[in-house]
Amino acid sequence: MDQNELKKAVARAAADYVKTRLDERTVIGVGTGSTANYFIEYLGEFKQDIQATVASSEDTAKRLKALGIPVIELNSAPEVSVYVDGADEANEYLQLIKGGGGALTREKIIAAVAKEFVCIADGSKLVDVLGSFPLPVEVIPMARSHVGREIVKLGGDPVYRDGVVTDNGNIIIDIHNMSIVDPRKLEQQLNQITGVVTNGLFAMRPADKLILGTIEGLRTLSL
Ligand code: 5RP
Repeated sequence: MDQNELKKAVARAAADYVKTRLDERTVIGVGTGSTANYFIEYLGEFKQDIQATVASSEDTAKRLKALGIPVIELNSAPEVSVYVDGADEANEYLQLIKGGGGALTREKIIAAVAKEFVCIADGSKLVDVLGSFPLPVEVIPMARSHVGREIVKLGGDPVYRDGVVTDNGNIIIDIHNMSIVDPRKLEQQLNQITGVVTNGLFAMRPADKLILGTIEGLRTLSL
């Protein structure tokens, strides 16, 4: 099984799970990225039963609408019952690095609202210590140099993601070479830097369930 097959398998498992949770009030949060895209594809199979979704990016909203799946604004959703999204890295505490696709801020907002956050990923994303994957930070453009200098003070190597503008009109700085031994602390420290919109550490609000695809089969971790 290659990585794509593993992504498909976890996306299928998440769609099957969401299907069992549907009622007339269910709003599904939908993530961004290649794993989430498979999930969207599988949602299409029972779109007639879906009342509403909220999308974590413009790309996801476009994909959902193209399949005829209703998309509403988060502000119009009374609640988000379940949020399904991928990750760039995860640890055994279900803390994550997200934002490889640049959608971290909207992803974090939906995760904050969601009653349940189901993370889906191929098994290679599970690590002992977060940080091998460069940690994305969304930044207000005029604060780029300031935020970069503050990141250096925290011990990281900031790299501007050239040519990327987020759905919110901001830039991304990726933090390289940082072994994240205390994800909750670093998440808060980064949020304190003026000009940072948000960062890709999902530690204060980790996933509730992590479905991993491995060659031996699916592995589910829960908090
Ligand atoms: C996008 C994300 C994605 O969930 C993350 O990058 C994983 O992507 P993929 O499913 O393509 O491996 O956080 O901002």
